[in-house]
Amino acid sequence: MKTQVGIIGAGPAGLFLSHLLHLHGIDSVILEHRDYEYALGRVRAGMLDNDVCALIRATGVGANLDRFGLEQHQMEFRYEGKRAYINWKNLTGRKTWIYGQQQLVQDIVTRREQDGAKILWDAEALGVNGLDTDSPSIRFRYQGVEQDLECDIVAGCDGFLGVSRKSVPEGKIQEFHRSYPFGWLGTMASVKPSSPWLVTGSHERGYAMHSMRSRYNDRDHEISRNYVQCGVDDNVEDWPDNRVWDELHTRLASDDGWELQEGPIVEKIVLPLRSFVCEPMQYRRMFLAGDAAHVVPPTGGRGLNQAIYDVALLADGIKDFYDTGAMDLLGRYSQTCLQRVWRAQQFSWRQTNMLQRHEHTDVYHRKLQVCELDYMTTNKAAATHLAENYAGAPIDSIFLGNEVLEYPSVDG
Ligand code: PHB
Repeated sequence: MKTQVGIIGAGPAGLFLSHLLHLHGIDSVILEHRDYEYALGRVRAGMLDNDVCALIRATGVGANLDRFGLEQHQMEFRYEGKRAYINWKNLTGRKTWIYGQQQLVQDIVTRREQDGAKILWDAEALGVNGLDTDSPSIRFRYQGVEQDLECDIVAGCDGFLGVSRKSVPEGKIQEFHRSYPFGWLGTMASVKPSSPWLVTGSHERGYAMHSMRSRYNDRDHEISRNYVQCGVDDNVEDWPDNRVWDELHTRLASDDGWELQEGPIVEKIVLPLRSFVCEPMQYRRMFLAGDAAHVVPPTGGRGLNQAIYDVALLADGIKDFYDTGAMDLLGRYSQTCLQRVWRAQQFSWRQTNMLQRHEHTDVYHRKLQVCELDYMTTNKAAATHLAENYAGAPIDSIFLGNEVLEYPSVDG
């Protein structure tokens, strides 16, 4: 089998990349080791930032996002009984939308199928060969038969545990890891959300978040998506429904008696929290994107958005490669991504430190967290920091678009 770009993984990164390449007239094949039902059942992230939504709309896959996505302008912080807000629309003019990752996956697959895509579900990539040549190939098993997909370029969009990064020769990629000594228990409950915006709670007993999921057709109703910080080794059996609700009520309580509506819990999952980056995000003709190259804890809502930004840049580089026959732009992919990737790492790490209960949380540390929450929700510059990072300001506007601070000269 032969194609121009061989893509490993049919998550949002791999699918959106193949959609963008198709719009540029470039052929691709996607290999995905799970089946389509699994991809659609996999409950994942749900927050899409301003520019990611703009990109989704501009490339013709935003109809359902426009119809069902839940527009968000702000987030509420609950701590010490207080209710405080950061409004990114007022601070930066940007909006975000709640729209489930699997809904986005379904929208892109539908469009890719209309456009005649080659997506092989249940096709397990076993490794990438020929990486030191100009014609790499992906070894995969499909319907019991092992075969090779020959390509000009390989896109590794197969997540943190995927085979693409592991196929890079030893020592050619450096990895940076941080794991956190806690996890998140995520639940879906069949009940209308109790707030029109996200509520994020920092409590002495641990973090909690009240989020939501949109409908996906006119018959569905909205769903509440709630998270509680849990032990790193906890599993869902440790969290019977009444324990989940008790902790949510306690951790999200406010002095004015706000009430969280309960409903039947239809899904429960424990998520580990980790931070990870690999450098560079490329080896020769293989390019890594999304979770295959970097992972953030969900606290900053960055993961899915980062994956989309990666593949937008990768698609431009690949188009330039076919237009010019040169690797100039494509060769800068990793370097260009990594500035934004590390910004998201730092932001997610900071949010995690500010909001979660840490093992070393003593009264002093808690006082620091409360001080930072007060500062961030009352000081415009501090609030803008969160707004820009959360709602997705373009990286060059964060680093270059603002006025460069001029320090007074010796005699000035
Ligand atoms: C979610 O709804 O799953 C969600 C939203 C915002 C976050 C994290 C998770 O920051």
